[in-house]
Parts: sequence; structure tokens; C-alpha cells
Amino acid sequence: MMDDKEILTIAVLGGTGKEGSGLAMRWALNGYNVIIGSRDAERAASRAAEMNEMLGGDYLVGMENAAAAAQADLVVLSVPYSAHQPTLDGVKEQLAGKVVVDLTVPLQPPKVRTVHVPEGKSAALEAQAFLGDAVRVVAAFQNVSAEHLSDPRHVVDCDVLVCGNDAAAKADVMKLVEAVGMRGVDAGSLANAVAVEALTPVLLYINKAYSVKGAGIRITGIG
Ligand SMILES: NC(=O)c1ccc[n+]([C@@H]2O[C@H](COP(=O)([O-])OP(=O)(O)OC[C@H]3O[C@@H](n4cnc5c(N)ncnc54)[C@H](OP(=O)(O)O)[C@@H]3O)[C@@H](O)[C@H]2O)c1
Repeated sequence: MMDDKEILTIAVLGGTGKEGSGLAMRWALNGYNVIIGSRDAERAASRAAEMNEMLGGDYLVGMENAAAAAQADLVVLSVPYSAHQPTLDGVKEQLAGKVVVDLTVPLQPPKVRTVHVPEGKSAALEAQAFLGDAVRVVAAFQNVSAEHLSDPRHVVDCDVLVCGNDAAAKADVMKLVEAVGMRGVDAGSLANAVAVEALTPVLLYINKAYSVKGAGIRITGIG
């Protein structure tokens, strides 16, 4: 049974890390209740305290991943690809009925500037296959560099391609994209996440080739 209630509380699993922490702070500043999830409850609490100090208020709390997922209306998955399946294994039950935003990129270190297509074609498709129809997976944010997110007041000059099979879930995620100051672009079904995830190693290559840190994407021709 899908729950289309308003998204008020967001859990960011792996929110102790570079990408998730930047998004978490931005959502918290925009009025969402945000829970930082970690494998370790103490690490989650201390990272949340650091972020609160940076933001100048009691905005975020930290919890172990499963507890964070249980309390959230929507769950963001922000872990390295090697931790993707293990993290899902630990929270499957808590995700039932929810929207999961997967921003995992299936990079294959050390060749992070070369596209790697995983066995399930994309991390988001693998998540959807594992979680089943009780969960609506939306893929987004894979092409946004953490370089731009760490200062929550910095304006990020790029678009976010949003892929998913459920229109209402995609609309929820579009709102979250706008809340962090970017433009969301409807990029089709979850199958299209294959292409979106594959863009990230291309951007990492461009960063190196042009000696920049946060190359991003902008879609032209849609106004
Ligand atoms: N960094 C970027 O610029 C960027 C841009 C676009 C997309 N992404 C994608 O976003 C995801 C997160 O990137 P990130 O740079 O934030 O990664 P990260 O900082 O290396 O890791 C994020 C968090 O994942 C958890 N984690 C790390 N290794 C783990 C393991 N082996 N098992 C379980 N959990 C583990 C850790 O949380 P705990 O130790 O607290 O559990 C860590 O703080 C990745 O899939 C990445 O490809 C990143």
C-alpha cells in the first residue's frame, strides 16, 4: 500500500558523508525534519552536531540507519556503491511503503573516470529490484558534485535529472530538488537511471581534463 502523505521528515542514509551531508543541511535549512543515518549511531549524532554548529541551530539529528529510515517519510540513500546492497539489506523492512531517493553511482575504483555498468544495469534499478513494489525508488542527484553542496548557502549551478516509475514519487523528489536550489528535470522512467548514473564518471573525467572540481550538467532547450 503506497502512502502519498506530505514529505516532512527525510532520512539521509550515509548522511555522514560528503554528498549526503550537503543535501541534508540544505533540506534542514528549508524546513524539513532531517535525520542523518549512519552504520554507527554515535557517528551520526556527532556529524549531526557538527552540521548544527555550522548552521547555527538545532536542525538535524543523527541515528543508526535502520532507526533513521523507520522514522522518515522519505529515505535518501547516499553511500558508495560497495555499500549499496549491504545498506539496503539492513533497512529493507523500514523502507516498505516509502519513496527512496537513490543517488548512488556504481563507480568502480580506481577507474572512477570510466563508465561501469553493474550487473543490474544501474544502482537504482538494483535497489528497486531488491526492494520490490512496496517501495518507489527515484534516482536523482547523481551528477551533483559534493564540492558545491558543502557550503549550504552556495548556489549550485546545475540541473538534476530525476528518473522514476511513479509520477507522485517523482513529483515529491522534484520538490526536494527545488528546495536545495536546483532545477529538477523529468528524465523518464527508472530505466533511464542507467544513463544518468553513467554521466558521473564522465563528469569526473571532465573535472580532471579541465582541472576543475565540480563539473555539472545543464539541459538546454526546455526554457
Ligand atoms: N561525492 C560526490 O561529489 C558525489 C557526487 C554525486 C554522487 N555521489 C554518489 O553519492 C554516494 C555517496 O557519495 P559520498 O561522496 O558522500 O561517499 P562517502 O562520503 O565516501 O560515503 C558516504 C557514507 O557512506 C557510508 N559508508 C562508507 N563506506 C561504507 C561501507 N563500506 N559500508 C557501509 N557504509 C559505508 C559512510 O557512513 P557511515 O560510516 O557513517 O555509515 C559514509 O559517510 C556515492 O554513491 C557517490 O558515487 C557522490
